Amino acid sequence: MTILERPIVLTTFLGYDPRHPGHFGLGSGVLEDTLEPKAVRGMHDLFGPEMDRWTQVENRLKKIFADFGYAEIRTPALEHLEVFSHTVGDDTDIVEKQMYQIQQAEGSEKLVLRPEGTAAFMRAVIEHQLHRTGKPQRYFYYMSMFRHERPQKGRLRQFHQFGAEIINDGTAEADAEIIALLHHIYGTFGVTEYEVKINSVGDGTCRPIYKEKLKAFLLPQLSSLCELCQKRFERSPLRVLDCKRESCQAIVKNAPKITESLCDPCRDHHASLKRRLTSLGIPFEEDPSIVRGLDYYSRTAFEFTSNLLGAQSALVGGGRYDGLSTRFGEASFPAVGFGLGVERLMLVLEQKQSLKDETRTPSFYFAALGDAAFETLFPLSFRLKRKGIAVEMGYEPKGLKNLLKQADRSGARYTLILGDTELKDGKAPLKQMKDGTQELIELKQLESELTRRV
Ligand code: HAM
Repeated sequence: MTILERPIVLTTFLGYDPRHPGHFGLGSGVLEDTLEPKAVRGMHDLFGPEMDRWTQVENRLKKIFADFGYAEIRTPALEHLEVFSHTVGDDTDIVEKQMYQIQQAEGSEKLVLRPEGTAAFMRAVIEHQLHRTGKPQRYFYYMSMFRHERPQKGRLRQFHQFGAEIINDGTAEADAEIIALLHHIYGTFGVTEYEVKINSVGDGTCRPIYKEKLKAFLLPQLSSLCELCQKRFERSPLRVLDCKRESCQAIVKNAPKITESLCDPCRDHHASLKRRLTSLGIPFEEDPSIVRGLDYYSRTAFEFTSNLLGAQSALVGGGRYDGLSTRFGEASFPAVGFGLGVERLMLVLEQKQSLKDETRTPSFYFAALGDAAFETLFPLSFRLKRKGIAVEMGYEPKGLKNLLKQADRSGARYTLILGDTELKDGKAPLKQMKDGTQELIELKQLESELTRRV
């Protein structure tokens, strides 16, 4: 079993300690009475207009996935450690140092917060035998992921991905579909400032041969590579290709390209993908440094990068992972997909100011003066809400001046004022907030008259 070099053991115990009422037990220590209200570093609260913008994006994406025939799947936030350590790869940042590990007690099972969706998806597929139909199937997920990275713009410790995965389809057309779907998604949001970078990382036949070629090229310059690349040289030489250090990049610039070492089936697959992308009018560039930071890829690997993002330039990454099922003891079946970072999409959309704030204001504010008026308006507000009409009502008894102030603040289109006098007269004033005009509404027709105005 893979041993985490630097596991981040999150909690051993979290709960209320009855011996210290008013105190929360956290780990071995006990917090003071007051708690600093601060979210965990690299993790964010969402609310207000920002939350509304997220909801707009989420809804649009879910609609696109439905239009393209992708069914939603959701997996638990916690998985057994091995789901990732056996699949993502020993020499990857995720397995080496980024997983949040949770262990209830010494000797109990090791669980991790999912750092990515694909291995968890594959675990679920095999557990529920979803692949057994043998027919292509399309899934999407929208889930938060957890990686213990150094937080910076566009890089968080809890982030969100929309992912899409096609299983049981080994064709280059499925790869093209995945890339075309992304092209459509960004296009829907008016985002065109990105490059589609594709590569092939070969398969079990040609990649080992290429690895040896690459090692032979790197060996004479080994001591000039950074410490991490020297460490990865033996087991994961391909990762040297995507090292961001300038000194390493200068060396690998002249390295042999994997696309020149592909076996015939991989070369045909790659050529078909390029043909399909061209026929779909999707511009792309071949980039031999796209080897991806996860080990499960075979053949197609791709990323969309954008200058609008700064250092964390990957908008989305993905590729084919035909052999991953074998890591779960299952026969090999083909699969391809992507993981789209939602925070990074939001960053781009904010820069382009392409999302309009949709402030939702109520249609009516109900100002009830006195118990009898409250008895009438309180149930009416719920009858209207059930019809989808937004009504706001202050529940604490207040005078007219205060209620009108609240009505103003609520942004409601109309305010209905009801007190004992109005109840006696059988008519209540409805004030149009925009221009202050008022009309009298018959109380007998109150519900239908209000409904008519929406
Ligand atoms: P990944 O490249 O590790 O691939 O992540 C995919 C995307 O998630 C990135 O391109 C980026 O937009 C976003 N992302 C990654 N890490 C962070 C972070 N710390 N903060 C904010 N956003 C981040 C995967 O996860 C694969 N499972 C993708 C895949 C699906 N391959 C096949 N199917």
